[in-house]
This record gives sequence, C-alpha cells and structure tokens, in this order.
Amino acid sequence: MKKVLVIGSGGREHAIVDALGRSPQVGRIFCAPGNAGISLQATCVPIKDTDVEGLLGFARENGIDLTVVGPEAALAAGVVDAFRAAGLAVFGHTKAATQIESSKEFAKRLMLKYDVPTAAYRSFSDYEEALAYVSGRPFPAVLKYDGLAAGKGVVIAADLEEAKAALASMLLDEAFGKGKVVVEDFLTGPEFSFMCFVEGRNVYPMPLAQDHKRAFDGDKGPNTGGMGAYTQLPFITDEDRQFAFEKILCRTAEAMVAEGCPLSGVLYGGLMKTPQGIKVIEFNARFGDPETEVVLPLLQSDIYDVFYAVATGTQPQPLRWSDDVTLGVVLASKGYPGKYEKGYAIEGLEDVDAKIYHMGTKFEDGRLVTAGGRVLMLIGQGESVAQARRRVYAELGKVRCANLFCRTDIAHCALEME
Ligand code: AMP
Ligand code: GLY
Repeated sequence: MKKVLVIGSGGREHAIVDALGRSPQVGRIFCAPGNAGISLQATCVPIKDTDVEGLLGFARENGIDLTVVGPEAALAAGVVDAFRAAGLAVFGHTKAATQIESSKEFAKRLMLKYDVPTAAYRSFSDYEEALAYVSGRPFPAVLKYDGLAAGKGVVIAADLEEAKAALASMLLDEAFGKGKVVVEDFLTGPEFSFMCFVEGRNVYPMPLAQDHKRAFDGDKGPNTGGMGAYTQLPFITDEDRQFAFEKILCRTAEAMVAEGCPLSGVLYGGLMKTPQGIKVIEFNARFGDPETEVVLPLLQSDIYDVFYAVATGTQPQPLRWSDDVTLGVVLASKGYPGKYEKGYAIEGLEDVDAKIYHMGTKFEDGRLVTAGGRVLMLIGQGESVAQARRRVYAELGKVRCANLFCRTDIAHCALEME
C-alpha cells in the first residue's frame, strides 16, 4: 500500500486528500500542515508548506511514495526541484515552470510568442512611463503586479485617478515588493476555469468550472479567494471547449516544453469568453480553490495513478469522469475578505448530507472552531445544476455557527439560462 504526502492546508487539499482516500492503492495519507477536517481523513504533520527541508526530511524518514503539492507558494519555494533532486516522486511543477503563475510578464511573453489568445499588454518598471502609457489608453485599465500577491495584485482602474494610485502603490511604494507592472487591455465576457493535468506535451482535461470571486450575491462586494463554484457551464459550447483545449492548454504545454521548462502538474487556465473569442485572463500552476472541491468529486479514475504518472513522466490510463453536476458553496467568516474574528464553535456537521471540505478550521479543546476567512465548503451533486443547487442549499442550514455567511446565488448565471 502506498504512502502519500499532500502539502497544503485548505479546501483544495481536503478535496485532494478525499480523492486519494478513494484509491484502493493508497494506504496512508499525510498532510502538511492540513486542517481539522483533513485530520479526520489523514495524519496531519505540523510542517509549513514552504519549509522545503522539513518536508523533504519528513518524506525521506517516512518512506513516502508520492508527494502532491497544493499551493503555489510551495511550488515557488522549490519543493518539487528539491524532491526531484533527492530522487522522490512529486506531483507539481518545478520552480522554473511555476513562473507561468508567479510572473505575469513571463506568462504574457509566452502567450504572445506562441500565439495563445490573451489581452494585448505592455510591462513597466518605471512609474512615470507606466502612467504616461495608461493616460493615453481607454479606461478601465487593467494593472497587474508581476509576482505572487495572494490574489491582490490586480487592479481594474475605472479612471486615471485610480490608475495613478494603483501604480504608485505597486511601483513607488512597492506594496507587494520590487517588481514590474503589466498593463493590459480590459476584456469583457463570462469567466471560467479550465484545469488540466499536464506532463510535458500530454494534457488531460478536467471538467470546466466557474468560480464566484465577489463576496456578496449578485457578484457585488470585494474580491475574495472564491465563494462557490459549479461544473457544467451552459454558456460554453463543445466547440468553445475544444478551442480552449487545443489553442490554449495544449499549445501552452508545448510552449513550455520548447522553452525548456516542461509542466508536470496542473495547468489552470483562467479564461474569458469575450466577443472576440476565448482568451486567457491568467494561468495558475496548481489546482484552483474552490474549483478543485467541485471537480475532483467527479473523477472516477484512481487519482493516485494520475498523480504518479504525471510525477514520473509516464502516461495514465484514460481519465473517467462522472456526468453529474457538482455545486459548492463556501461558508466564510463574517467580515471576510476584510477583518474577521476566529474561534467560533461550529456544530451540526454530523447531520449534513453532503460532502464537506474544510478550508479554515481547527480543533480547540476538542471543539471544532473557525480558523480562517473561508471556513467550510459544502458540495451538492446531482443530474442538473438546479438539482445540485437545491441539495446543497438544503443542507447549509444544518451548519450551526454564529459567525458565518455564504452567497445564496451560486450558479445564478447557469440557472438564468436554463
Ligand atoms: P487575475 O489575478 O489575473 O486572474 O485577475 C483577477 C481578476 O481580474 C480576474 O478574475 C478578472 O475578473 C479580472 N481581470 C483580470 N484581467 C482582466 C482583463 N484583461 N480584462 C478584464 N478583467 C480582467
Ligand atoms: N479560484 C481561483 C484560484 O484558485 O486562483
């Protein structure tokens, strides 16, 4: 029986642990550092996701057969490079390949060079030059910090005033550190996420999903890490999906091989269906969160085989997916994504008839309490979006906690079209 180490501590990692738990080959699962929910399905070990030496030492001492890396910070810290150098099987991209997420400029240059559709752009390290360029362009202007900024590095500036403030913060005050700013054209249309397992030129697609980034109903309020997601998007046709697969995901995998930094993990395309066709808004070098929580429950193949094949440069059996629809709703701490309190007791989970993934929880004196901005995600499954949605919303009321809120309109865009 195989021993697997999963690195990370959120809902995404809980979904990965849950999927590994369904593999008949997997005997023990460890998670570093994990969370309260994960600890019910795996052995949590208190090692930070960027502590490369600590993780490597643990994997060696415990005879780990395969390590799966969740968060981008761990990839950017070089976990995969270190594990490979030590001869250990690891699922995730090298530091060089992770640039597709960690550097917006790298990603934009790659797309331009290999003709992958995306918004036109220019990049700047000088404040005055950036401001002069933005002043002569139409608004809104899209300004992106060229580095990892925990989802806060993108500003859609409605006018020159806002653009000036954002550029000053990024280039003069170096709010996210020293780095360039990418200025790109503003695109419109529905957004969706297309995740694929990628090993070199081999690309294995997952079902499409749509995230809901704003905090409140009607897509209002501040941007969050994601408040809910669902699969089977009625606004994407089979032709759209095929176009995105061939001209975006496969072409990008090829491009990364040609550039000498082949992919060996998940390539996440954050895509938009614009009036001029499907274009890339961003790439991530990892599973999306909360998309993973709705996508992986649909995988019928043994995920250990898929991870191991990608980690070792071999080909997995064809992937099998359920035709069902999944829909997940996030329960977040009141105040999130701004200031919020932690430590509120959570009760009633044993009565919930749905998958529950923990995003930010811990045990305190034997009680389950809130420990993060996004706390739990409940997943409904059914034959249609409407059915999956009815199922999950019927269960949400059973979760008792004094400090949580959720959106009541996940998948509104799909239901309006039904
Ligand atoms: P990113 O971190 O690059 O995904 O950007 C965060 C969010 O900003 C995206 O999910 C979009 O909603 C929005 N955004 C980014 N780039 C553009 C663009 N070129 N046009 C319109 N909206 C964008
Ligand atoms: N759901 C967006 C992300 O994972 O970046």
